[in-house]
Amino acid sequence: MAKNARIIGTGRSYPEGILTNADLERMVETSDEWITQRVGIKQRHKAAEGEYTSQFAVAASRQAIERAKIDPAEIDLVICATVTPDQILPSTGCLIQTELGAHKAAAFDVVAACSGFLYGLTLANQMIRGGQSRYALVIGAEILTRYVDYTDRSTCVIFGDGAGAAVLAADDDAERGILATRIRSDGRYAEQLFAPGGGTRLGHSAESLAAGDYYFKMRGNELFKVAVRSMAEVSREVLEEAGCRAEDVKLFIPHQANQRITDSVADKLKVDPSIVYSNIAYHGNTSSASIPIALDECIEAGRVAEGDLVLLASFGGGVTWGGVLLRW
Ligand code: ACO
Repeated sequence: MAKNARIIGTGRSYPEGILTNADLERMVETSDEWITQRVGIKQRHKAAEGEYTSQFAVAASRQAIERAKIDPAEIDLVICATVTPDQILPSTGCLIQTELGAHKAAAFDVVAACSGFLYGLTLANQMIRGGQSRYALVIGAEILTRYVDYTDRSTCVIFGDGAGAAVLAADDDAERGILATRIRSDGRYAEQLFAPGGGTRLGHSAESLAAGDYYFKMRGNELFKVAVRSMAEVSREVLEEAGCRAEDVKLFIPHQANQRITDSVADKLKVDPSIVYSNIAYHGNTSSASIPIALDECIEAGRVAEGDLVLLASFGGGVTWGGVLLRW
């Protein structure tokens, strides 16, 4: 009989450095009032020079593994969702695997921007259900601030750094664990959020560097509409697949992109605002790390109990989007 994939441990980590709205007021023409009202962010973590993505991924993973009460050597799958890897080759997943001592795992990266963690959960779920994995580690980790142009006020106020991780185990209990997953993408919207530089197309010339080709470029207004529509749609799809109703959900964690996006999605789904989790005020948008960081915070705060229905939804550059429904 196919086993269910259940999360048995989570963890999170972020740089000590913090960039406040007051700091940004000194860098670009913006204000705490504008950022708070239009996005909902007060501060974000920012990695110091010399810090790199896998450091935070490893710290979050160690915490998740410890809480899962397993030996890292038992992990047979490591998926790292990131758009800000340590280096081009090898994958950040392989670097994390080595640091953790998860030597028998298959390790790789998933590049799906803010939806990366839910893409990772979907893959791990399938590997576990297919009998190819018993303990899977899924991580979302980013140092986005390296790719942010701190002269562009429309992007530099949004992004922050951090990592979150979850250990999934194969479980016989058919009632608990991941009930439904759905991942989607539409490359026709690629230029709503993109960083064209640093790859084979534009190369690594001094001109490309000087032009800031590797910085994130965003059409925030267009992305906003796609985000609300796609997260609401995918949430309804996973609920329908599992035969559940939005009113049954006890905890809803949407990707933390903008408080107004979160509010609009919750409104469209007609869920009670009290079940919607938000930490964007103090983390900003950490892309693939946003959902696992939020999930870990909710568990620590006792916001999720055994048997609760938990809904996760995301969207991001690509564009990509996804939904995962779990019974805790
Ligand atoms: N401070 C002050 N004014 C600003 C700032 C700022 N930081 N940024 C933009 N403005 C100005 C604009 O210049 C514009 O001025 P104008 O009317 O004189 O031209 C005005 O504010 C309105 O600009 P909009 O872009 O229409 O503002 P909007 O309300 O859409 O908010 C935002 C912009 C916050 C970017 C919003 O569109 C948004 O959150 N979009 C989604 C973005 C997102 O989630 N991206 C991440 C995707 S996840 C991933 O894959 C990593």
